[in-house]
Amino acid sequence: MNRREFVKVVGLGSLAVYLSGCGLTAIKTSGNDDGEVAAQESVSRGKNMKIVVINSSPHSEEQSTSRYLASRFVRGASDVGHEVFVFDAANEETHPCRGCDQCGMDGACIFDDAIEEKLMPQMLHADLLVLVTPLYYFGMSAQLKTVVDRFYSRTTRLGSKKSMIIATAWNSADWTMEALKVHYETLVRYMGWQDVGQVWAVGCGSRQMVESSEFGDLAYKIGAGL
Ligand SMILES: Cc1cc2nc3c(=O)[nH]c(=O)nc-3n(C[C@H](O)[C@H](O)[C@H](O)COP(=O)(O)O)c2cc1C
Repeated sequence: MNRREFVKVVGLGSLAVYLSGCGLTAIKTSGNDDGEVAAQESVSRGKNMKIVVINSSPHSEEQSTSRYLASRFVRGASDVGHEVFVFDAANEETHPCRGCDQCGMDGACIFDDAIEEKLMPQMLHADLLVLVTPLYYFGMSAQLKTVVDRFYSRTTRLGSKKSMIIATAWNSADWTMEALKVHYETLVRYMGWQDVGQVWAVGCGSRQMVESSEFGDLAYKIGAGL
């Protein structure tokens, strides 16, 4: 699709960050407008969490808008002592679920790929899963969806975790992220996750746009405020 198709509804880069669950409480009850969070109010309750961040943009680290926000989040979380594992769904070897049911929804996948070997062990031990995606045709990227579908092999064991989403898009109309938001929230509900933050970075179609937006600082503060 021509990029202009997405440009036509771009207005002023409006702020679109939704925080929910403990994340919302943490930021809103902080003592100042800079998002400083008292330890006892945080999602982690002072414990060092294991965080798995799943990047899915095919753009490079230097070009990608979603990777930029993910890296700011990671910096924030690392600065306060959380342990972060980052998986690159766009560049690792991954395979989409074949629906063969060999896993029985609770066992090894037939694919011996990076999802099974590198990501799954990390996810099973993680406290917080962070889904990171560019908006592709109003949904998540195929690279991220490939990983999400592979949750099938450990659906129950991946339940009861905390979760978060970071998404970037070119458009900034108020409906830009609507479909992805519904999808994410449905996933949270089905998986039994506790959503701790949603960053909907609209009007962030290029690196320059995202770097000059407020979303980088917000991503950092969410990480540091966990
Ligand atoms: C295949 C494709 C589909 C896209 N679909 C949308 C879309 O539906 N809405 C939108 O606002 N931007 C869309 N975009 C723009 C990207 O979401 C946007 O440029 C984003 O910042 C890219 O993030 P990244 O650099 O991390 O990959 C699309 C881009 C591509 C390549």
